[in-house]
Amino acid sequence: MIKKAVITAAGLGTRFLPITKAQPKEMLPVVHKPVIQYVVEEVYLSGIKELVIVTGRHKRAVEDHVDGYIGKKENEYVNDFERVLEAMNIFFVRQKEQRGLGDAVRYAEAFVGDDPFALLLGDNITIPNCTEILIDIFEELGAPVVAIEKVSIERARHRGIIKGRKIKEDVYLIEDMFEKPERPISNLGIIGRYVLTPDVFNYLRETEPGYAGEIQLTDALRNMVLDGKEIYGYLYPGRRFDIGNKIDWFKANIELGLRDEEIGKELREWIHKVKGYL
Ligand code: UTP
Repeated sequence: MIKKAVITAAGLGTRFLPITKAQPKEMLPVVHKPVIQYVVEEVYLSGIKELVIVTGRHKRAVEDHVDGYIGKKENEYVNDFERVLEAMNIFFVRQKEQRGLGDAVRYAEAFVGDDPFALLLGDNITIPNCTEILIDIFEELGAPVVAIEKVSIERARHRGIIKGRKIKEDVYLIEDMFEKPERPISNLGIIGRYVLTPDVFNYLRETEPGYAGEIQLTDALRNMVLDGKEIYGYLYPGRRFDIGNKIDWFKANIELGLRDEEIGKELREWIHKVKGYL
């Protein structure tokens, strides 16, 4: 039912400066692969073959990495990705000005057309595959779904937050939502995975700049909810790393590194040893 996906990767990544001065944050390595590769593979493993990636200035490396031809096939991470790229149709569109996530999503309108679609933030990794689960929920409930996680109230002020009524295990009917609220109304924070319907574009068109002067996707979704449209929140039980901030990037490398067959054992031993020096 969901045949199309959109990945946003046009953000400036100022929280990562100077690391992102000349390279996109989506190209930061997490164990064996850059972040964008995890996200494209998540789309493919969800059964979606049509993908548009919204990029922008300074994002050439993302486009080059997600290009069919890698060259020398030296290891499984190269070979597996090449197979993924061969099976998919991937398009790029460039956001002209960095006016926020909501604005970036608008660039996918022509590609999406009249179809529901998955939306993934290109700097977030989810393990296991969150998009695949959202698609199942969308098919069951027939309405947009936003992945959420429990956050501390302190962190909630820096996140998109939903207020909802629990309708069944891990699923909430959203009653209201706010982007980075001063006084959070709940501890349910939005994570970078969505399944949306094309009517969101009508709302994005009407959405005024919000938090930080940017067009916020959360504000457009809020207006849909206030118009009486059903949108669900799914409490994702897996691991989600927001590579847009440094500490999550470190955590992703350590946690996924510890689980890795090739380097896990040595990393564990090293962590044990280094703890002795601290
Ligand atoms: P962030 O909130 O992480 O913002 O974007 P950012 O600009 O990328 O990073 P900082 O805050 O400067 O460090 C969330 C998602 O929205 C995309 C980002 O690429 C990321 O997927 N985005 C954000 C855009 O595509 N365009 C924008 O104008 C803003």
